[in-house]
Formats: sequence, structure tokens, C-alpha cells
Amino acid sequence: MQNPFKGAINIDFYTNQARIKWFILIVAIIIGGGSIIYTNSLVAKLKKGEEEKIRLWAQAVEFSSLPEVDASALTFISNNIIGPDNTLPVIVVDSATQQIYDARNVGEDEGLRERMLRKMRSENDPFKIIVHNGPNGEISDIQYVYYRNSYLLRQLSTYPYIQLSVIAIFGFIAYLAFSYSRRSEQNRVWVGMAKETAHQLGTPLSSLIAWVEYIKGMDEMKGRDDIIVELEKDVVRLEMITERFSNIGSVPVLKRQNVYDTVNGLLNYLKPRVSSKVNFNIEGTSQEIEANLNKPLFEWVLENIVKNGVDAMSGIGNITVTIGQESEHEVFVDIADDGKGIAKGKANEVFKPGFTTKKRGWGLGLALVKRIIENYHNGRIFVKSSQADVGTVFRIILSA
Ligand SMILES: Nc1ncnc2c1ncn2[C@@H]1O[C@H](COP(=O)(O)OP(=O)(O)OP(=O)(O)O)[C@@H](O)[C@H]1O
Ligand SMILES: [Mg+2]
Repeated sequence: MQNPFKGAINIDFYTNQARIKWFILIVAIIIGGGSIIYTNSLVAKLKKGEEEKIRLWAQAVEFSSLPEVDASALTFISNNIIGPDNTLPVIVVDSATQQIYDARNVGEDEGLRERMLRKMRSENDPFKIIVHNGPNGEISDIQYVYYRNSYLLRQLSTYPYIQLSVIAIFGFIAYLAFSYSRRSEQNRVWVGMAKETAHQLGTPLSSLIAWVEYIKGMDEMKGRDDIIVELEKDVVRLEMITERFSNIGSVPVLKRQNVYDTVNGLLNYLKPRVSSKVNFNIEGTSQEIEANLNKPLFEWVLENIVKNGVDAMSGIGNITVTIGQESEHEVFVDIADDGKGIAKGKANEVFKPGFTTKKRGWGLGLALVKRIIENYHNGRIFVKSSQADVGTVFRIILSA
């Protein structure tokens, strides 16, 4: 049967998903970048305003020292407009003595003033005040006005970064929560469907077993053992399918099993069911290796991978299973074919549900395989290597 949903599931779903991800990322970058640019321009404007205030104050101080200037107006500006500002830290340094001459909004502590001055020197260029205090208005001193931007302004310039970090952390937590709930929903669907299938198969299967027993005893069936054998094979096959579904629908029981025997048994079962031009081999250093397995589910995994391999070689070639020790507590099982290979960059995609390149494929085989290995066996599975027209190797790693 050709898969009627193929187009819908495969092409649209994955390309749309990728497009939506890009769209969200680009919108997030535009919003984040825009907010930083906007705040930075605000900060620049405010900074200019603060700088202007200090410049004006320095100028007022300088002017008030000129003999021809009526100092009272400037003193008024200095004392009533700029002076009361309690947000801008200012330090006036005498150029001759290099001592702090005057300070405001920096507190009284000497050490603190010195530290503040060092910061100010590194942050902004000072304004120069030429003091005309001589009897004829000669220059009597040169002072430098150092300043820092207000605390509010400094806070404002870091604000967008803090804000974006908070949003990013929140987004990340929301993403984790969302993907967790999506995964647990998927789990419920898988488990529910599997349970239901096992349940649905159970009833006709038990009556089928009874029917086979009944037919065996019929007079007309005397000498027709071949039919009975075929019927019994089909019943066994149905029982196996039911067992697989019922295992995936419940908490699976893992048992220490001989890996070679399990693989060998499954390959012997598959051999007569695929093209006779496919050779099956098992390689490995030891036939004694054991791993924690759920036999019906692990056989399902092997069957899916081997069938994909057979499909990839159009019915002629070799399937080689290699069993070995990955590490002290891990066993690997490699399944190699010499088929057409997996397209470059698709080695992870093949495990996604709905990914298929076959006319009659559902793209569910490897999604199921990954689930069984990772969720039910706590193991790993990946494409170890794949080359066009040379073949593909899948590696399964199980705990021993
Ligand atoms: N051994 C392999 N060699 C080459 N391509 C492979 C191999 N195994 C899997 N693939 C690719 O991965 C795709 C997904 O495989 P998967 O078993 O999940 O689905 P399917 O075989 O297409 O359909 P079904 O649901 O019937 O198994 C295949 O369509 C194929 O393109
Ligand atoms: Mg398949």
C-alpha cells in the first residue's frame, strides 16, 4: 500500500518545522538587537546631557573667577541649577598640587574619593577650569573637573542586556517544559496505541489458535500436514507481533541474554523471508557476550534495521552483524549492509518519525528502533558510517 500521508508527513512537516524555527530565531534577533540599539541611543542622549551639565558648571566656576564678571549671576547658576544635582559624582583636582580640591556626590571618605577619581579618569575626559584669581585677573590656578555618569544612566546602559538574559533564560525554561510535555504526550500516544493494538489482536488470535486445533482434528485434513504447518507458522508470527506490541505498551522487563543467540535466532527467522540473494553473517570475537535485553523488542529492532538494509541493496548483497565489547559495561552490535547508503547529512534525520525515501514506506521503522533502544534499553543507536553505493553501518550500544 502506498502511504497516502507520505507527502503530508514527510516533506511539509519537516520543511515547515525548519522554517518556523528560523523565523522565530530571526524575529528574536531583530527584537533583541532593536531593543539594545534603542536603549543605547537613549543612553547616548542622556550621557550628552550629563556631560553638558558638568561642562556648564566648570564654565560657570571659571567665569566667576574673572574680575570683570559679575559673579553673582554665575554663582546663582552654579548653586541653584547645577549644584543641587545629587546624582552626578564630581571631583575637582588642582593641577599644581594634584590634590582633590572639591568634590560632590562622592561622600567624605578620602580612600573612597581616591578610588572614585581613578574610575573617573578611566571613564571620561575632564573639563579644564582656568582660575583667574590674581589681583588683575591673572591666571592663578588650573583645575580639572572629573566626573562619572549618574548611577541611573549606568544602570540604564546595562539594562537591555539584563533584560534580554532574563528573557532568554525564561525562553529556555519554557522550551524545556514544552518539549518535556510534548515528549510525554508522544509517549502516551505510543504506549496507548501499542496497548490497544496488542489488546485488539489478542481476541482473534486466541480464537485462531482454537480453530487451528479444531482443523487439525478434522478428517478432511488427514495427510495435509503442510497446511497445518503453514497455519501454525502464521499463528506464531501473530503471537510474536502481539507480544511486541504488548511489551512496548508496558514497562519492559530486561533480562541478561546471550546476544549472539538472539541475533542468530532472528537472522534465521528472517532468512527465508527475504531474497535468497542476501547473505547473512555474524562476526565477533566472542559468542559468550551477554547484555540486558527485552527479547521481543530487541528482535523487532534488528528486524527493522535488517529489512532497511535489504531494501537499500535491492535484494542482492550482504548483511553483516558484528557483536563486540564497547567498554567494560557496554556491548555493541553493528549491523552493516552494502546497499546504496544514506544521503549525506541525513544520518540523524532517518530516526525522525515520518522520514522516508520509499514509495511504500511509513518512515516509522527507525523511529521505533530509536525508541526501543533509548527509552526501553537505556542504550544508544546511531549511524556509524554510511557511504553512497558502499553501504551503511548502524551501531547499537547496550549495557551489559
Ligand atoms: N540501511 C539503510 N541504507 C540506506 N538508507 C536507509 C537505511 N536505513 C534507513 N534508510 C533511510 O532511512 C529512511 C527511514 O527508515 P525507516 O525504517 O524509519 O522508514 P522506512 O523504511 O522508509 O519505512 P517503514 O516505516 O516501513 O520502516 C528510509 O526511507 C531510508 O531512506
Ligand atoms: Mg524501515
